[in-house]
Amino acid sequence: MVVAVSEARRTYGDLVVDDPREFRVHGSIYTAPQVFEAEMHRIFERTWVYVGHESELPAPGDYKTVLVGRQPLIVSRHEDGRIYALYNRCRHRGAVVCREERGHSNFFRCRYHNWVYANNGALIGMAQASGYPEDLDRSRYGLVHAARLESYRGLLFVNLSQDGPGLAEHLEPVRKYVDYWFGRSPSKRIQVILPPHRYEYPGNWKLQAENGFDGYHGNYVHLSWQRVLQLSRESTVEEVQQYRQEGCVRGLRNGHGLLERPGSLNPASSWTARMMHRYPEYAEAMRKRFDDAELVEISARRNIFVFPNLYLFDTHIRVIVPRAVDRTEVQLYVYALEDVPEAINRSRYRGHERFYGPAGFGAPDDIEVFTEMQTGLAATGDPWNLLNRGQHRERVVDGEHIGHTTDEAPQRSLYREWKRMMSEA
Ligand code: FES
Ligand code: FE2
Repeated sequence: MVVAVSEARRTYGDLVVDDPREFRVHGSIYTAPQVFEAEMHRIFERTWVYVGHESELPAPGDYKTVLVGRQPLIVSRHEDGRIYALYNRCRHRGAVVCREERGHSNFFRCRYHNWVYANNGALIGMAQASGYPEDLDRSRYGLVHAARLESYRGLLFVNLSQDGPGLAEHLEPVRKYVDYWFGRSPSKRIQVILPPHRYEYPGNWKLQAENGFDGYHGNYVHLSWQRVLQLSRESTVEEVQQYRQEGCVRGLRNGHGLLERPGSLNPASSWTARMMHRYPEYAEAMRKRFDDAELVEISARRNIFVFPNLYLFDTHIRVIVPRAVDRTEVQLYVYALEDVPEAINRSRYRGHERFYGPAGFGAPDDIEVFTEMQTGLAATGDPWNLLNRGQHRERVVDGEHIGHTTDEAPQRSLYREWKRMMSEA
């Protein structure tokens, strides 16, 4: 395996070349185990990592387990109503105290010697306690709390480091787009539908990160989908391909980015406007809450990437879980928009299944490409990948790199942040 890092006294940051004409990334960022190790420490254990939505844990006792970088955590709602992020490691001798993916329990009991912890991590019992002094200070042996846990509109993020910006500052460049995404619900609320569905592919996590806002591949990878739409007389291939030229991509600060199709109040050209036209009660609720300019923004369809592991799609929340340098798990959480007619959500679920579902016409084709990339990246004749599409024509407005819908501006923003974080000691 070719890894340029130690050989040439390069730093990991040098594996991304921010050349104004030819932005490129070194293939070893997808294939070298030591780069992956460094990413887990320098990125995933130092920045804000998405761990779930509050609606997944509605009642005290609800919990889920997650990985943040390499580290197993429990996210749990205690009887005080608050949510806690706890390291899933028994304070006695290190076993995980919770082995389930999600569930409901009033305590976590370690299987090995029966130490018992409350949902806020407090140590509340141990087997054969007489083996310890009577005055043992149990408060010292609770499950360790993650350094920081914060929520934005119910989206929960953990940061394992006490240092660095708060969540609000991290999200600031992408926040207005996240708000528009919530705005399809007149109360700006969503409800996650459990369980998620998931896929795993034998490739690097960044292949999924690069793909969700890639507006270039659709006419090729998803041509079979376009043909299905034509066969079912929903739209012609030509119409879909025309639509795919519209809108823009935005590369944002802090590694975030998005693909955007234009919004409109015209039912013929936007989903939200169409739903408002079809369901007058939805239109009324939306008009009460938002003015026309806001409605145009809300009706724009966006795939929003929140660095480093979260995508917000129109039908689902997508979570990228890096497992190894060449193994990635992806979880798709379908959600309901709150306070909209049930028929709207139902049609969203069916649309989701049709494109993103396990037997869908879209996502499986993307996953196939990720495995083809991981295979091709083993060839190192010229180890550089190009991400320079549209560099000559992008505009920078208020820190946003705005490009044609098929350009690689958001991928460049992702890798600028990657480079910054990987260059730090
Ligand atoms: Fe958990 Fe011993 S390792 S009780
Ligand atoms: Fe795709």
